[in-house]
Amino acid sequence: METNPNQEFYAMPRIGEKAPSFKAVTTQGPINFPEDYNGSWAILFSHPADFTPVCTSEFMTFASMEDQFNKANCKLVGLSVDGLYSHIAWLRTIKEKIEFNGMKNVEVTFPLIEDITMDVAKKYGMMMPGESNTKAVRAVFFVDPNGIIRAIIYYPLSLGRNFDELYRALIAMQTADAFSIATPADWRPGDDVIVPPAGSCGVAKDRMDNKEEMHCYDWFFCTKKLSKEEVLKKIMK
Ligand code: BEZ
Repeated sequence: METNPNQEFYAMPRIGEKAPSFKAVTTQGPINFPEDYNGSWAILFSHPADFTPVCTSEFMTFASMEDQFNKANCKLVGLSVDGLYSHIAWLRTIKEKIEFNGMKNVEVTFPLIEDITMDVAKKYGMMMPGESNTKAVRAVFFVDPNGIIRAIIYYPLSLGRNFDELYRALIAMQTADAFSIATPADWRPGDDVIVPPAGSCGVAKDRMDNKEEMHCYDWFFCTKKLSKEEVLKKIMK
């Protein structure tokens, strides 16, 4: 494989590691990440550029769901490699002019980081030169209340994110933490959950035999009921 001597390489932050710290200027004032978010979840997400259509549709959708995320003790933080005045002008245009998918007068009140130097984008592995040298890809970092990266999702420039999935993933991780369980494919609150938590190896045979309110498909795959009410009571502020 040919290598480009001018190519810069950055370590990608990984799940289970402390979120890299940075200070930045945002549309809501300065932030110190992740320290300012200690005690709550944060979703740090990048978009390629202000004044672009996919990003506009994403910002309107995410801003419309902000209360929902805040109620689940999660704050939103956006980033692109544009400057502060571009951010401010774009968000004003969104509020004043854009009507999309039944959303209008949408005010983005979560911070949007200016990152003209690309320092933060590089630190977080948001620059992917194969996709673009000048724009961040659509990255999503879920950071827990202890500042640990818990999930990372990347999308290319052309693909708008599914914000219901981001919310589902957040609630699933919070539920896994709160109840020491894991969640199966496509899980939503109210669906059965997997015991024991991910990473352990099945349940003891005696537990499986007396079934302890569990349904076992085999020794390594057991589920139990967990009501939506129990989940929401534990998680919602
Ligand atoms: C968009 O958000 O529409 C977009 C941004 C950068 C490249 C392609 C599309």
